[in-house]
Parts: sequence; C-alpha cells; structure tokens
Amino acid sequence: MATPFFQSKKAAAILKHAILDQYISPFAMKTGSTSQGGRVAIVDGYAGTGTYEDGSEGSPGLLLRKAREMSSRRRLECLFVEQDSESFQKLSRFTEDEGKGLDVKIFLGDVADNLTLILDETQGIPLFVFLDPFGLMIPFEDVRKILMRPTGVGMPTEVLINFSTIALRRIAGHLTSSNANEATLRRMDGVCDGDWWRSAWLDEAPTKEADDRQREAAEEAVVKGYATRLSSAAKAGYWTADVRNREHYRSAYHLVFLSRHRDGLYLFGESLSLGLEKWRRAIFDTESAGSLFEGDEEEFKAEEKALSDKWVKEITDNLRELLSEHGGFRIRDRYAEVYGDTLGKARVKHLRAAWKNLLREGITKTDSKGDLIPKVIEPA
Ligand SMILES: C[S@@+](CC[C@H](N)C(=O)[O-])C[C@H]1O[C@@H](n2cnc3c(N)ncnc32)[C@H](O)[C@@H]1O
Repeated sequence: MATPFFQSKKAAAILKHAILDQYISPFAMKTGSTSQGGRVAIVDGYAGTGTYEDGSEGSPGLLLRKAREMSSRRRLECLFVEQDSESFQKLSRFTEDEGKGLDVKIFLGDVADNLTLILDETQGIPLFVFLDPFGLMIPFEDVRKILMRPTGVGMPTEVLINFSTIALRRIAGHLTSSNANEATLRRMDGVCDGDWWRSAWLDEAPTKEADDRQREAAEEAVVKGYATRLSSAAKAGYWTADVRNREHYRSAYHLVFLSRHRDGLYLFGESLSLGLEKWRRAIFDTESAGSLFEGDEEEFKAEEKALSDKWVKEITDNLRELLSEHGGFRIRDRYAEVYGDTLGKARVKHLRAAWKNLLREGITKTDSKGDLIPKVIEPA
C-alpha cells in the first residue's frame, strides 16, 4: 500500500488541528482534576506519521506538545494507532524522539481491531478519541462502544470524528451507477448503522445528474442522520461542522463531535469558533497571496470585525426576542436559540458583547459578568 501523503497542511487540516489545539488543554484540565494522578487518555485512532514533510505538526505532534506543556499539572497518556506499516515506522521514530519522558503507546494495525485493548488501557480515566481517516470511518457499533464504555462518575468519554465528505460522495456515486458495487455500499451501511443513508441521499440527489446544491443537501442529510443516530444510541450530545479548503469550495469533511457531558459540548463550541478564526486566517493568507492584500493585517482585522459585528447584532436580537417572549431564562436552556444562525461560529465573547448592549439599552437588569452559560438573564 502506498504511504499516504503528508506533504503540507491544507486549510481543512488546519481547522481540525486548531480545534484540537484549543480543546485538549481545557478538556484535560477539567476532567483530570478528578482522576487519579491527573491521568487523562487521548487516543489518535488514525495517527499518520506524526508530522508533515514540511515540518508542520500532525495530530500526534500536536498531542505530544500538549502532553509536554501540561506535564506539571496533568498526565496525558497518548495512544496512537496507525495501520500503514511505512507510516507506522515514521510514527515510531517520531514518538521516540518527541515523546521522551512522556506516556506514549503506539499500535500497528486497524483501529477497530485494537479497540478492546485501548478501552482496557484507558479504563477508569477520562478519554478523548480522535478518529481521522482519509476514507471510511470505523463501524457505527465500534464508535458506540467507545462512547458507552463503562465509566465512573466524572470520567467523560468524548469522540471527535472526521466524516469524510469526499469518501461519502464517492460511495454515494454507486447509488445511481449502473454497475454499483454492493460491497462498497454495505461498508457504508456498517458505518451508518443501516441503509437509511441511501434514501437520505437519494431524496436530495436522486440522479447521476444532481447538481452541487443537491449533493450538498444530500451530504448534510447523511451527516446529520449519522450524528443524530450516534447521539441517541450513545445518549450523547453532538456538534457537526462542515469543513472546506476555501469558503466556496466543496466540503472536504464534516467534523462530528460527541460528548456525554454538557460542559464538553459548550467547550467544544468555543473551540470550534476559535478554530474557525485560524482557518479564516489560513484562507485569507492563501487567497491574498500575490494580491494587493498579501500580508495585510489591517484588511484581515477589518474582515474579522465585520463578522463579529454581524454576530453580535444577531445574538442581541435573539436575546431581545427571547426575553420579551419568555421573560428570564438560563442561557444553557436556550443555547441554540440564543446563538441562532451564529451557532458554531460565534462564542461567549460575542454573547457577552450582545448582553452588554441589552444592559446599556435597559432591556435587561442582569450584568454580563462571570460564566454566562449557567447564568439567568432577566428582563429589566
Ligand atoms: C488523515 S490521515 C491521519 C492524519 C493525522 N490524524 C493528522 O491529523 O496528522 C489517516 C491515517 O490513518 C491511517 N489508517 C487508515 N486506515 C486505518 C485504520 N483502519 N486503522 C488505523 N489507521 C488507519 C492511514 O494510513 C493514514 O496514515
């Protein structure tokens, strides 16, 4: 098998890494505060080589950096799985160099085949699992097994999945092909827990000639169906995010995050928003290269400010409407309605600015200080 390509990072890879970079430290700080010895396990199920050829960090590189940065406060135990033997050799050399003094274990083989071993190794401690294949995800039942592992109180289990839209599009092509490969379709059935995804796709994109808009709706329907099924099978909440290499390009993958803990879901929303900011920066740098705006910090800041103003206005309007309709309410009870169209894009910083606007306008009497998610906002 050819060694997968790890040359340099595209914007889509920048986003998943930026989210991990934002999320892992607060996750480990929070969950490790109640686990014995501050232990927290992080599994990278499709690890790759550790680093890209241009020297930039792959996910194992990022996770080892986190483990080192946090070593005086938390014990991050990193478990990396890689199936391709050439990539595994590179990963092995990489972890020998970069993992000195850290708790790292590497496994050669299929992540699904190593699952029992991994769940044994991580028993009784908080667990975050990153599943990042180029192609198809491990079967639904395996992901459910991770999320439903027996845990003690306060021992969260979370999974971040890269659901490849490119693989989905390729496989869905068989649904309208005259020489469809039924075995390929059945593998997707295994990923999705049944063949429901076939009709979900065909309802939106019924023919070979379906246009981009129809295909996008079909992708959305399948990813949404996948996340909701997993969420109810594992009694977990979820986020999904559509990731592209440029804003107007087709989707490269969807991130699906599942957590059985409410705090994890809020924290992920923050990380997603911060990750998207880094992603926009990467896209700005690519698109402005060679143009008048190349390296123009002021132009980027102006674009960011316009976005931020728009989000704050939307959240202000949402809060105003919710207050007049329902009176006082706790933000977390109406989280999605508060954020509205800005859900997954804006974060608490924007919510706080909106709240301040309403305090200034005399619409609320509640100050905007402290942790806003559990706080009750009251009309004036
Ligand atoms: C997208 S790359 C991983 C990139 C890496 N997570 C990062 O962010 O730097 C996917 C990797 O998974 C490996 N792989 C593919 N199928 C696998 C499986 N069933 N189990 C474990 N690894 C697998 C591939 O060889 C490849 O190195």
